[in-house]
Amino acid sequence: MKKPKEIPREEGIDHTLSLKREGYMFIPNRRRSFHSDFFKTRLFGKDVVCMGGKEAAELFYDNEKFKRNGATPKWIVQSFFGKNSVQTLDGDSHRHRKNMLMSIMTENNLKKLVDIAKQQWKKAIDQWEQMDQVILYEEMQKLLCRTACQWVGIELKEDEVDRRTKELASLFESASSVGPAYLVGRSSRNNLDEWIGELIDGVRNGKVDVHDDEILYQFAFHRDLEGNLLDAKTAAVEVINLLRPIVAISIFNNFLALAVHHYSEKTEKLRTGDKQYAQMFVQEVRRFYPFFPFIPALVKKDFTWGDYQFKEGTMAILDIYGTNQDSDIWENPDVFNPDRFKEWEGRPFGFIPQGGGDYWAGHRCAGEWATIEIMKVSLEYLANRMNYDVPDQDLSFSMVSMPSIPQSKILIENVNCISIRKVN
Ligand code: HEM
Repeated sequence: MKKPKEIPREEGIDHTLSLKREGYMFIPNRRRSFHSDFFKTRLFGKDVVCMGGKEAAELFYDNEKFKRNGATPKWIVQSFFGKNSVQTLDGDSHRHRKNMLMSIMTENNLKKLVDIAKQQWKKAIDQWEQMDQVILYEEMQKLLCRTACQWVGIELKEDEVDRRTKELASLFESASSVGPAYLVGRSSRNNLDEWIGELIDGVRNGKVDVHDDEILYQFAFHRDLEGNLLDAKTAAVEVINLLRPIVAISIFNNFLALAVHHYSEKTEKLRTGDKQYAQMFVQEVRRFYPFFPFIPALVKKDFTWGDYQFKEGTMAILDIYGTNQDSDIWENPDVFNPDRFKEWEGRPFGFIPQGGGDYWAGHRCAGEWATIEIMKVSLEYLANRMNYDVPDQDLSFSMVSMPSIPQSKILIENVNCISIRKVN
């Protein structure tokens, strides 16, 4: 897209209602009509620079130019991220905390996560075989909640599964809500902070028995830049920063199931056990379907970029969905085509379903590799390891509600497990 001399500005007093009406398409619609990857508008009574595309993403992830502290509204931080979470930090304190999160994403830990997810899938299918109908979205959340707790080193009793799953899910389901839905999320946040906070205290005083190679133990004894233990609440927030998004993979998994159903000709290739194709299929699901819409930041200090002036303190939001659908980056972006990832060498700023740039230095999602691994396990089960029927239902999904979930939450029937080939 060509770059005009000044950032174009949308006329009008405030466009928050249009954002609510247009949802994921709010920024892409205006990038198209302004013929520009940058435009200014007013949202929630404030001037905002909206930006999308590869160049814009690279600029957005420049730590010298943008910062995160103060960018996300307080009410979202308190409910969705949790107070003092890594998402709200900048500079050295961000790097130090992020290092704690990235240090657990080792090959061994990711393998452990995959093994746990496989175990939980097998258990879940045994149960689904006894059920008349399975609501995949809800079942997937329980499966992922069990997986997440086991991976982190939290003992989750069977009678706690429903409650903790609902609490974790309500954090992301209510992230953009106001009114009663927000209050549900807020109350879940309080319960979860208390639950995990007590576990952290228990690990520290020896009342909770957990091995020192477990993530829970490592976070409980993490020291900040000054060499002090994190306060139990903050350590709990970072543990929840693992549990909540693992449960949120249920959304991607629902879209995986939808893609397997809608593009059955493409799933034929999965039946050959082609691991590269499975990876490509997962990547295309992450690119194609709406999940995270955009990310906010604040201009750190005045700067000029080309002809564009950025003023300190201005809010900027990066168009995640639109960048993954950008026709300057992707050929026929609105076609579901896993083959586009065949010769793909990775683009730190052109493919950003979970943020872009560097994992350690910036805010890119700490759990991206974990997400891909869990999605590959899920795809293997959905496409190859179980038979099931998909009855008539409303499989449409909204481009306005955030997060977007297929209307029916995907119903499946007559589930039975198939043991096939030599899949490990
Ligand atoms: C469910 C699929 C997921 C999506 C769509 C997603 C998306 C994102 C996005 C868009 C960001 C913000 C990037 C930025 O601010 O620049 C982010 C950050 C983060 N994600 Fe994820 N994520 C997912 C799964 C996970 C998983 C499985 C984990 C952990 C196991 C995780 C942990 C985090 C953490 C800790 C951050 C904050 C990183 C920072 O501020 O430095 N996410 N994620």
